[in-house]
Order: sequence, then structure tokens, then C-alpha cells
Amino acid sequence: MDKNRPRTARAPQLPGAVLFDAYGTLLDVYSVGLLAEQLFPGHGQALGVLWRDKQIDYTRLVTTSRSGPERASVYQPFWELTSAALRYACKKLGLDLSAGQEQQLMNQYRHLSAFPENREVLQALKNRGIVTGILSNGDPDMLGVAVRSAGLDGLLDHVLSVDSIRQYKTHPDAYALGTQALSLPAAQVVFVSSNGWDALGATWFGYQTLWVNRYKLPPEEIGPPPVRTGHSLRDVLSFFEP
Ligand code: LAC
Repeated sequence: MDKNRPRTARAPQLPGAVLFDAYGTLLDVYSVGLLAEQLFPGHGQALGVLWRDKQIDYTRLVTTSRSGPERASVYQPFWELTSAALRYACKKLGLDLSAGQEQQLMNQYRHLSAFPENREVLQALKNRGIVTGILSNGDPDMLGVAVRSAGLDGLLDHVLSVDSIRQYKTHPDAYALGTQALSLPAAQVVFVSSNGWDALGATWFGYQTLWVNRYKLPPEEIGPPPVRTGHSLRDVLSFFEP
């Protein structure tokens, strides 16, 4: 080893942008569970979990599958998959879902509230000149309404939906929407998600990742760990402390 080599090279470059997952990360899906419990007493929690699992299951199914000899895409927008997953989850749990109840639950999903710390954190990033955005499986209509009803418009520079490429996360093309929109390499972008699988997909892609473990879940058992793990969106600010 060269003794004359400086011991500290250049300070590592601070990230230039932050991308956030939407559902569960910026948008609180808890109210959907409350409504589910009101509609189906004693089953709200199970319905919420199964609904979410099936929704994500369908995103993977349509991203990895093709139909017929021409290998046609079987993509469906997130809204369609979300309502299909709701119907499936109810059938699996033996719950009789009326058209009105389906509409009520989907309407609740459309108008989710933001986590209380979001505005303050997004504002702090904006004040530091950090570019921010959402990179979500949600389709543009869903994201537009969600951002407005959560009061986050004006605080995000980009709202990116995988709908433009018809491939859901964790497909690398979905994560690449972020680097393309930002014109930054993945290593200079922090990707924030409350979903362990999403944080892992983003870590594999090359983003600096923050897993906001809001639900005290165990870490994924495969792949590299996220760069950082936190419990609230505020933890993203630690990436910008020199
Ligand atoms: C999203 C889902 C995966 O917003 O939470 O992309």
C-alpha cells in the first residue's frame, strides 16, 4: 500500500434527489383498514393484508407474464388490479362484497391521507435544493388525486408512474424511470420505501435506499440490506448531513 496516498479521498458526494414510493410510504393506507373493519367487523385486518398482498401479487403476475404466441402484454393499470385484488380477497375470506361496498373501499383508497411528517420533510428537502419525486406503481390518475388530497402538490418535482412503461416495480425498467427523469445515476439518488421488497428492488437497481420500517417488520431474508433503515420519513434527512 502506498504510504503517501492521502487517507481521505474526496468526501462522498451527497445525493442530489430523493424518490419516494407512494402507498404505505407517503400515503397512509390505515384508513382503508378502518373502513374494512367497519364494513366487515372482525375481518378488517385480514382483509387489508390479503388485499395488499394480492394487489402486489397481481403486479408481479402481469409484469412477468405474456399471452399467446405473439407474447402480448397482459398489463392492467394499478387501479384495475387493486379492485380485482379486493374482490379476490373478499371471496377468499368468505365476505360478501356488494358493489356499493367495493365502491366505498376503492374511494377510500383514492383519497388516502399523508403521514403527518411528510410535508415538513418534503419542505426541508426543498429548502436544501434537493429534487424530489414519487416513483410508484399507481397509475397517473390515482397518483394525481392522492397527491392533491394528501396536500402534497407543490412539494414534489416529479410524479412518475410505471404506467408509462407498463411494467411494475421491481422490474428494473420501472426503477429506471427515476434515473431517466432526474438525469442522475442511481447512486446519487435516495429511494425511500416502506415496503421491504421495494427497498430491496431499488437497492439491487443501485439506488441509495432508505427502508422506512413503519410496521416493525423483519428485514428481507434475501439480497443486500437497504443502505439505511428508519422508522419515519424524517430519517431521509440523515442522507444530507455531511
Ligand atoms: C407504490 C406501491 C408499491 O406506490 O406502494 O408503488
